[in-house]
Amino acid sequence: MKQLVFILNGPNLNMLGKREPGIYGGDTLEDIEALCRAEAEALGVDIEFRQSNHEGDLVEWVQEAGGRKALVLINPAAYTHTSIALHDALRAAAVTVVEVHISNIHAREPFRHHSYVSSLAKGVICGFGIEGYAMGLRALVKSAQAQ
Ligand code: DQA
Repeated sequence: MKQLVFILNGPNLNMLGKREPGIYGGDTLEDIEALCRAEAEALGVDIEFRQSNHEGDLVEWVQEAGGRKALVLINPAAYTHTSIALHDALRAAAVTVVEVHISNIHAREPFRHHSYVSSLAKGVICGFGIEGYAMGLRALVKSAQAQ
């Protein structure tokens, strides 16, 4: 059976394309999904690609990923900077996780500099636009294969 990877997207990422294109670019979430599907195909993994504006959905999906022995690539969006619930879910599920952000959160407002996810992540990719998803997926799968 192929390795399963959950690709989880947090709040407002459904608005990509329309939302602050100067920061996030003109690509949509559908474009990101297509990019991830092509990369997954090349890597030989299956993906579940999901987005929610609700913290509890992300918590439940992380729990589901743990139960299904999936790897997790996550852009928690604003919950990156606020969610102890997501931190606890990732910790409890003990999933291998890579965190991705489209923008360079460290070059932006100070409230974006702290992440509740990074301390649990195998690695973090930010600032490379949507290409970061392909980079993150590749790094996640390769590092899990090396374990
Ligand atoms: C983001 C960065 C976050 O600070 C922000 O709240 C987002 C998107 C990114 O991909 O650059 O919604 O995660």
